[in-house]
Amino acid sequence: MKEKTLSVSAIKDGTVIDHIAAGQGLKIVRILNLGEVRITIGLNLKSASVGLKDLVKIEGVFLTPQDAAHITLFSPSATVNVIENYKVVKKFTTPLPESVSGILYCSHSQCITHFETVPSLFAVEKSNGLILLRCRYCEKTFHRDEVKETV
Ligand code: CTP
Ligand code: ZN
Repeated sequence: MKEKTLSVSAIKDGTVIDHIAAGQGLKIVRILNLGEVRITIGLNLKSASVGLKDLVKIEGVFLTPQDAAHITLFSPSATVNVIENYKVVKKFTTPLPESVSGILYCSHSQCITHFETVPSLFAVEKSNGLILLRCRYCEKTFHRDEVKETV
């Protein structure tokens, strides 16, 4: 039998987040909090450059710089492609943000952010290749993967 390669279809207008570190695709979709738009998610796809990757296609949505910075937090390797009329008109990566607010819960159960209606706020730090988040309220530091998303 002839082997066929199935690929997800191209989109007309919107955003393709490519080269997402395998395992981070769903988290990225959640933190973007996109609502009712058409989203195609590919998990553990083969990639020539990075082994396995996740990929997210979002139709009719163009991300804000803040969205792009949040993506970097969970996958610095991710490329954001802006698609207009089927063409890639822009392709970029975003530096790690200095801080992140609102999208993540502090994992310290006694943190004041759980008792007051304040949005969470973390300083982002990189240490030995790990992305760490330091809560500005309780000052505790967590690995990126220890902190749950609020959406
Ligand atoms: N893409 C899409 N719809 C389009 C155009 C592109 O879904 N109308 C997707 C492609 O499938 C790919 C990503 O957007 O996953 C980037 O497209 P392109 O730059 O053409 O692919 P590559 O050259 O493979 O990208 P890179 O060099 O970043 O790996
Ligand atoms: Zn805290």
